[in-house]
Amino acid sequence: MNIERFDDEHALAEALATRVLQAILVNPALVLGLPTGRTPLALYRELRERSAIDWSGVRTFNLDEFAGLAGDHPGSYRAFMQAELFDHVSIRPENIGMLDGRAPDLRAECRRYEAAIAACGGIDLQILGIGANGHIGFNEPADGLCAHTHIAELEQQTREANAQRFGGDWTAVPERALSMGMATILGARNIVMIATGAEKAEAVRAMVEGLITTQVPASFLQVHRRVDVMLDDDASRLLTL
Ligand code: PGA
Repeated sequence: MNIERFDDEHALAEALATRVLQAILVNPALVLGLPTGRTPLALYRELRERSAIDWSGVRTFNLDEFAGLAGDHPGSYRAFMQAELFDHVSIRPENIGMLDGRAPDLRAECRRYEAAIAACGGIDLQILGIGANGHIGFNEPADGLCAHTHIAELEQQTREANAQRFGGDWTAVPERALSMGMATILGARNIVMIATGAEKAEAVRAMVEGLITTQVPASFLQVHRRVDVMLDDDASRLLTL
């Protein structure tokens, strides 16, 4: 894992936005894996501000989506992505890959997503956040992890972390979600993990310096050959390496 430290989340976001936009310039048909949450907000702000870049050939796949929510529900990740990025850049709607949390057959929806990623030739650059519990996507700490896109039961901590978009009420956050699996994520050719803030420091330490364990799903990134971990000072403060 290649560790990169930044003074603050803005410096990190600027550097990552530059990397994403350069990747698009080099490969206008870039296949980009995208996260939601608090951490990538600064990145999406940077990308919006540099929206002159041509996104019309870019394809995206988001990591996850809540089960049972329509795309226009304000708590859905589809709504988040439209507001934070997709409505502001020249990406074609048909090139946006999102899981449909309202699909009548959620297992079939998971299979459709895997096939859609494969049909694009796989993900070139996957951007990831990390949960304070070490999750990536909605791959929560467990005795075993799913390889492929699947229906995930969410931990209370994860639902609490998402409560802000549900009127502050964590019980209103869906109990289930659809998520890329570990093999879906690790199948990306390049991975950039971003983490900011002291509340991520322990998860970052476990991801980078701990043993590989299903109790810290992000620790599996250690087996991937091309992972850059971009951290602010607070998130990196427990690293000893
Ligand atoms: P956050 O979520 O950016 O809102 O902290 C990260 C994650 O859970 O993957």
